[in-house]
Amino acid sequence: METPDKILFVCTNKRLAKWGKESCGDHGASDIAEHFRRVLKMRGLNKNLRASASGCLGPCNEGPHAVVMPDNIWYSGFSIDDVEEIVESHLLGGKPVTRLQSSPAVGQQPPEEV
Ligand code: FES
Repeated sequence: METPDKILFVCTNKRLAKWGKESCGDHGASDIAEHFRRVLKMRGLNKNLRASASGCLGPCNEGPHAVVMPDNIWYSGFSIDDVEEIVESHLLGGKPVTRLQSSPAVGQQPPEEV
């Protein structure tokens, strides 16, 4: 398997309501992660670019949250309608979508794929 140039991790964590804490799964994160994968595959980009679901990335509130590695660029509060722009501008063009960027969670390590 080839090593991709960039991996976009989308947190798809979903907490039970009884935990009383917001999670990315409350904001359609699984559908968004799947849409990223579908777009990359349809465009034949899935060898060099990868989208992967991940567990909690740390920030939780105002999600969904995602991080592009190795750039360490974080996105928050985006929707499925923003997927194509992130792919085109950032993953292909190297220009992060600044209106959707957020600060990295303090002390966060790059996530592992799930
Ligand atoms: S639940 Fe997604 S960052 Fe914590």
